[in-house]
Amino acid sequence: MDSFELNKVAGAVLGTLLFAMGTGFLAELIYKPKPAGDHGYPLPAAQEEPAGGGAAEAAKEEPLPVRLASADAAKGQSAAKKCAACHSFDKGGPNKVGPNLWGIVGRPKGSHEGFNYSAAMKAKGGDWSYDDLDHFIHAPKGFVSGTIMAFAGVPSGAERADILAYLKTLSDKPVDFPKP
Ligand code: HEC
Repeated sequence: MDSFELNKVAGAVLGTLLFAMGTGFLAELIYKPKPAGDHGYPLPAAQEEPAGGGAAEAAKEEPLPVRLASADAAKGQSAAKKCAACHSFDKGGPNKVGPNLWGIVGRPKGSHEGFNYSAAMKAKGGDWSYDDLDHFIHAPKGFVSGTIMAFAGVPSGAERADILAYLKTLSDKPVDFPKP
């Protein structure tokens, strides 16, 4: 091998190295993510786990009577569409995956005729107050551990208040909201 040939080999090796470096550099130029600036959506703040751990979130929220004072039943009705897969709301409506919810406020827990409640719900006891409903809809499994309501919960306190305002209307004798 003469020096000319050695040069060729060295050249090829160097060339390959340069090429590899160059493509790496180019790739970085092309793919380096630019900061997104103000475009796009702000990510929603981390939401708490649906089951339990509600203390931190609750601390940031207005107390229920305050939320109820500015709640909107019409908004609640449309928010309650996510419940309608499993619940009917009309008077005398059928039990579906979940029990009919007409007159739920003030009704004893787990008491709707013809619905096969979980043992956990039957054991919970007491009537459904606005406060209990707020907690249950926030985190069903956090409030009634062992419930068969397979629903993650409504994280927004304002939306839950709207839903409660809607549930209030589902009665011949609506139960008053608690006073702020
Ligand atoms: C995936 C189906 C499903 C969805 C969605 C759902 N639920 Fe339920 N719900 C159930 C089941 C099943 C039960 C019975 C729970 C038990 O026995 O443990 C129940 C029980 C309840 C109860 C107690 C009823 C009683 O008679 O004691 C309330 C109140 C309730 N749901 C409200 C809601 C609301 C409000 C929403 C929407 C924000 C909702 N649920 C969404 C299935 C569902």
